[in-house]
Amino acid sequence: MALLTGSNKIKTAVFISGTGSNLKSLIQFSKLKKSPIIIEMIISNNAKSKGLEYANIYKIKKRVFDFKNSLSEKKIIYQLKQNNINLICLAGFMKILSKSFIKNFKGKILNIHPSLLPKYKGLNTHEKAIKNKDKYSGCTVHFVNSRLDSGKIINQKKVRIKKLDTPKTLAKRILIQEHKLYPAAIMKVFSP
Ligand code: GRF
Repeated sequence: MALLTGSNKIKTAVFISGTGSNLKSLIQFSKLKKSPIIIEMIISNNAKSKGLEYANIYKIKKRVFDFKNSLSEKKIIYQLKQNNINLICLAGFMKILSKSFIKNFKGKILNIHPSLLPKYKGLNTHEKAIKNKDKYSGCTVHFVNSRLDSGKIINQKKVRIKKLDTPKTLAKRILIQEHKLYPAAIMKVFSP
């Protein structure tokens, strides 16, 4: 297998809104020799995202945009193109990107979602899985298209729902799997 060096890795931006634990796992993955990606930018819609701290820790460029209108999206697209970003990983990013944004990065946006898609698109996935008495929930990495949580699935991991699970306990166990699933998805799609 060819070794990937910084210069031929896929320049990646990670979009976050909150804690950024998936961001952290992606950064750690990106440091491995075998990783096909290098994380060049962290973008958040929320200046208070805890995950923005990783930009300082790992010396990665960070930008905050409100994503409220097409002007702010244009500014982001400009920044991403300026930095030769070729892959966008949405990781706990709570805004819906416009059709035109997605068109600009067609086939180059991935998302991680805390359910076994196509079940439970959107919010409150753990509540829904528990309420429906599902035996399993889990997480999914998929390509982003213009319909919410509906793009082509790359990989999934099942997590058993325990009798006494609350949305919080289930979310915690699924999150641990998310941290492995996202790097695995990237390897599946891009590894040489
Ligand atoms: C994750 O469960 C992600 O799938 C969901 O929000 C959570 C964010 O976690 N959309 P983090 O910010 O990566 O820690």
